[in-house]
Amino acid sequence: MRIVSVMNYKGGVGKTSLTSNLGAELAWRGFKVLLLDMDPQTSLTFSFFSPEEWEKDLAKDRTIKDWFSGSPPPLGNLIVEPTRSASILAGRGCLHLIASHLGLVNVDLELATGMGGATLTQVKQKYVSVHRRLADGLAQIPQGAYDIILIDCPPNFNIVTKTAIVASQYVVIPAKPDYLSTLGIDYLRRSVAGLIKDFNEFAGMAEGAPVSKINPLFAGVVFTMIQEYNGQPIAALRPFINQTRNLGVPVFDSYIKENKTLFADAPQYGVPVVLRQRANKTQQSVIDGLESFTTEFSTKLGLMAPGMTV
Ligand SMILES: Nc1ncnc2c1ncn2[C@@H]1O[C@H](COP(=O)(O)OP(=O)(O)O)[C@@H](O)[C@H]1O
Ligand SMILES: [Mg+2]
Repeated sequence: MRIVSVMNYKGGVGKTSLTSNLGAELAWRGFKVLLLDMDPQTSLTFSFFSPEEWEKDLAKDRTIKDWFSGSPPPLGNLIVEPTRSASILAGRGCLHLIASHLGLVNVDLELATGMGGATLTQVKQKYVSVHRRLADGLAQIPQGAYDIILIDCPPNFNIVTKTAIVASQYVVIPAKPDYLSTLGIDYLRRSVAGLIKDFNEFAGMAEGAPVSKINPLFAGVVFTMIQEYNGQPIAALRPFINQTRNLGVPVFDSYIKENKTLFADAPQYGVPVVLRQRANKTQQSVIDGLESFTTEFSTKLGLMAPGMTV
């Protein structure tokens, strides 16, 4: 079971759209996929459920917020299956979801409170247990239940995001090719490296059973909302793509094209773009891009097509 965080401390860069479509395309290809919405904006959840459905079936006690606060139910009890996608997938793979809640904004503060301690050793031990919280929760999900878990992170680098990174083997960074975003990628990379360093140093001081060190890898930056000309990103975007490559950060060759109409509609349909009927050639070409990205992503992570053995 692979665990992958989709993160960028910037909002509006296409994290949620990428998470839902990558998950849906992998499920279409036969993989068992779990999506975890960790953003209090709840956009991933609302990509599958209407606000009314969320209010009626999920809000009260079936979201990740419930798991972070009070006496949590097992994480597995929060898993739901969005029915509209399931009926299109018709038993190919599976696409399940753990929903989010707007109240998740307060969880960071609660987690921060849990990190106090009288001595430096205690502080470091609490740091490890708070940051391992999600990793421990996900470890209770039976290994074979899913091939991959995709975590849609909030647009910040607070504790909730850090618990996602600690739980992950890979990090994917959707980004727009513009000046500020490219500056941000280097910062993001250094923040993740700092987290790994602190966690691994403090892990050695944990009480009780030994805590494994973490080593989440940068699967890469995937550029989103790309305007094309003649089948290539327009000239104005290319310097930013090249700059990112020059940082030494892995960059996916495939990218996600811009199409306002197609993506704006998505939540309304309650089904990710890749699972919908293609209305025309332009839309088909956007979906082709999402499919190429899925192939590149699977290859990079060594995800074996279902049914194949080593
Ligand atoms: N490839 C795209 N082309 C055009 N609009 C997009 C694309 N991807 C996402 N969007 C739109 O941009 C907005 C932000 O996307 P979203 O995936 O929610 O980003 P994030 O999760 O990073 O905040 C949404 O309104 C979404 O519909
Ligand atoms: Mg989002």
